[in-house]
Amino acid sequence: MIKKCLFPVAGYGTRFLPATKSMPKEMLPVVNKPLVQYGVEEAIAAGLTDIGFVTGRGKRAIADHFDVNYELEHQIMGSTKEQYLESIRGVMANGSFSFTRQTEMRGLGDAILNGRRLIGEESFGVVLSDDLCVCEEGSDGVLTQMVKLYKQFRCSIVAIQEVPEDQIHKFGVIAGEQIKEGLFQISNMVEKPPAEEAPSNLAIIGRYILTPDIFDIIENTSPGKNGEVQLTDALLTQAKDGCVLGYKFKGRRFDCGSVDGFVTATNYVYENVYK
Ligand code: UTP
Repeated sequence: MIKKCLFPVAGYGTRFLPATKSMPKEMLPVVNKPLVQYGVEEAIAAGLTDIGFVTGRGKRAIADHFDVNYELEHQIMGSTKEQYLESIRGVMANGSFSFTRQTEMRGLGDAILNGRRLIGEESFGVVLSDDLCVCEEGSDGVLTQMVKLYKQFRCSIVAIQEVPEDQIHKFGVIAGEQIKEGLFQISNMVEKPPAEEAPSNLAIIGRYILTPDIFDIIENTSPGKNGEVQLTDALLTQAKDGCVLGYKFKGRRFDCGSVDGFVTATNYVYENVYK
């Protein structure tokens, strides 16, 4: 079964400058927990306990977050403050963490290709941790929902959601045939199309399950939109040669890579999850 999950975290996070000038965007806290920890918790809950990060320069804080801080922990040992470390200690006890670097920001496809040495020849999950996904308490997280589908269909799966027309140009957008409620066999995909050229209002969000043939496909994919190697282009090739499914997940997704989405997520999590 799927055990590995890749976290591409090399991006510059320019929409969040100046906060992200020397701090990784993935370490921005939603209430009291960094974004990346929400994603890692979701992956571990889905059984994806081998976590691989594709990092870049200036991202050391992420590696430190998933490591012991002896001095701090010694200082608060035995005090009531220790409870604040509970969630990260749980994550560290249940996951293992590996790191590789993307030396040039050549796009999400390239970041994933850099993760190949951490994944090998097996299917794996991908989480873009600036997409924060929240599901109802007690129900499956988005990756858990997708792993269940993978067991049935054994092909790449992308999480999708309906987005309003004025937002469509920010996403990869799919077209496909609905094979059952909320599940589409993808026939077309376009990265960040103008609304009038979008094949539907179904947008890809930052959760994927990918079969390992994607690596060779990415290697043979030329840079696309913005001169970046687009995962969407590679997925379209995979969809045309075989099968890629689009899954309308159950839950809410917040774009925490944008200031508006981040503030909405913070308010939502504070009211509905944290309290
Ligand atoms: P984004 O475009 O949302 O992230 O990429 P960004 O580039 O950091 O943000 P802005 O647009 O400048 O504000 C989606 C995800 O892919 C990763 C990012 O870290 C983010 O998690 N990524 C993107 C890489 O790891 N490498 C890349 O070359 C591009």
